Amino acid sequence: MEIKTFKVEEWMNEYEKYCKYDLGNTTINTLSLDELFEITKEDKQKFLDCLCKKTLGYGDIKGNPLLKREISKLYETITEDDILTTSGAAGANHLVFYSLVEPKDEVISVTPTYQQLYSIPSSFTSNVKLLKLKKEDNFLPNIDELKKLITKNTQLICLNNPNNPTGALINKELLEEIINIAKSVNAYILCDEVYRGLNTTDEKTPSIVDIYEKGISTSSMSKTFSLAGLRLGWVASKDKSFMQKCMSHREYSLISCPIAEEAIATLAVKNAEKITKRNKKTITENLKILDNWVNNEKFVNYVKPKAGTTALIFYDAKIKSSKLCDILAKEKGVFLTPGECFDMEYCFRIGYCKSKPQELKQGLNEISGLLQELNF
Ligand SMILES: Cc1ncc(COP(=O)(O)O)c(C=O)c1O
Repeated sequence: MEIKTFKVEEWMNEYEKYCKYDLGNTTINTLSLDELFEITKEDKQKFLDCLCKKTLGYGDIKGNPLLKREISKLYETITEDDILTTSGAAGANHLVFYSLVEPKDEVISVTPTYQQLYSIPSSFTSNVKLLKLKKEDNFLPNIDELKKLITKNTQLICLNNPNNPTGALINKELLEEIINIAKSVNAYILCDEVYRGLNTTDEKTPSIVDIYEKGISTSSMSKTFSLAGLRLGWVASKDKSFMQKCMSHREYSLISCPIAEEAIATLAVKNAEKITKRNKKTITENLKILDNWVNNEKFVNYVKPKAGTTALIFYDAKIKSSKLCDILAKEKGVFLTPGECFDMEYCFRIGYCKSKPQELKQGLNEISGLLQELNF
């Protein structure tokens, strides 16, 4: 089956090695197991003793029930039976498309976003339409444009809330407008919610599954919990027939998730509040540094992110984004992701939460230095 090159992942594979200042990754200071125990104050020895006694057979076929119970608490109306664990959010998104999209179906996806959300459905149907998120709309979905794209054949609308790369956050009112449009043609809404909870303000945004019966939430341990290496994610939905389809398809590619990883994830999700508090502190501190830099650097501008770990920075210089990021990586050690990976130009994505404040400041200074050189 044909599938387009996953531009962000290819770029990261190639350029991560030049990285002295990591402004490319979208995670927040990934946790070691020791740090996890330190933050959660759980009994490390007891946990390890218990884990060491487990036989390493297949795990629970539908996912560890304790883990699913903890995950269900991240939602308002979801029970553990409405959840299937997967191999990361990447596996969750793949499972949704694989289970739901047929050649006759139309899919609408926002862009820019994580490329999975439009390139995987494009390999199942030729009818994928893009809903462009524009800077003048603060990178929020434009309702009039969505109305123009929707038809009775629309099977699925794909959102990413909070959004990677822009950091835009769709609030409840706007989500409800989108839901009304989806309802008019009985379409599903997939909302990739891997950055959910990582808001820079106290604004609460609901999950799609708590406000739409045909809503599908995908998420994982990677961003909100800083445990990307567990490779654990999930699909959540109250739509029983959809979940049944996911289960049937999942049996062919996963069987079950790794049991040690599920045990660690259970401990982390149980302590969601503590881990989120730690991560929100990093986001808030680092966003202050980024915002200060943008406000004082005459060659850049952005829409300030409201959530997530990334922002899209637009620059003034007559150089394409891949070239700019190539120079920054190879000559200055600054690892960024070019706008080109999101089919946009004269901008780059910055992952501002991976680095310590000092490293972030130094990386930003290097970018300023190059923009200065390019403008003389
Ligand atoms: C929006 C979005 N969805 C999914 C993923 C993949 O997440 P995971 O590591 O859980 O597979 C990413 C990773 O960057 C992402 O940004």
